[in-house]
Amino acid sequence: MKKLGILVSGRGSNMTAILDACEKGYLHARVEVVISSNSKAKAFAKAEERKINRICFDERIHNLDATICEYLSLHEIDLVLLAGFMKKIGPKMLSVFEGSILNIHPSLLPKYGGQGLYGINVHKAVIEAGEKKSGATVHLVNEHYDKGKILAQKSVIVDEDDTPETLAKKVLKIEHVLYVETVKKIIEGKITL
Ligand code: GAR
Repeated sequence: MKKLGILVSGRGSNMTAILDACEKGYLHARVEVVISSNSKAKAFAKAEERKINRICFDERIHNLDATICEYLSLHEIDLVLLAGFMKKIGPKMLSVFEGSILNIHPSLLPKYGGQGLYGINVHKAVIEAGEKKSGATVHLVNEHYDKGKILAQKSVIVDEDDTPETLAKKVLKIEHVLYVETVKKIIEGKITL
């Protein structure tokens, strides 16, 4: 059974989708740890409710790169899933886990990725540009924001009356499916990292 580590900073709906899939046995995996960059994150509270081993590292106190890397190594994590984690993955983490760190991003990368393009900002940019299609991407994490190898994508239609908020809702729904399905394919060896 694969050991997963999930990194979060906010609401935690993608984390919940992965936890649910593990609990139902749909994913042959176990969430060993949830690491939050923010003790007030809803995701952090949700992890506690679900009795998942959780820890918060605050960048004002900890060196996030070294501390997270050490913690994940200690727990012998096979796959690291960023799920709304808003901090950059550092060189230490990449030296140990590169090729095993996945991120989900709310656009069809390579469009609308990069520094400053996260969460609702992505959907604002998509609407402003008049795109007819948007979606979500699961990709490997490297030293550049949103630039690692694309593993899977799923698209949605942008309707004329969509706002950034309605688009965010539509995309989030497919994110949950896409993340679980991609992790499943990796675990089953149908996607090689
Ligand atoms: C998701 O939409 C995710 O794609 C996005 O943050 C949201 C987190 O929601 N991530 C990024 O923008 C990363 N660049 P969640 O906490 O409910 O999973």
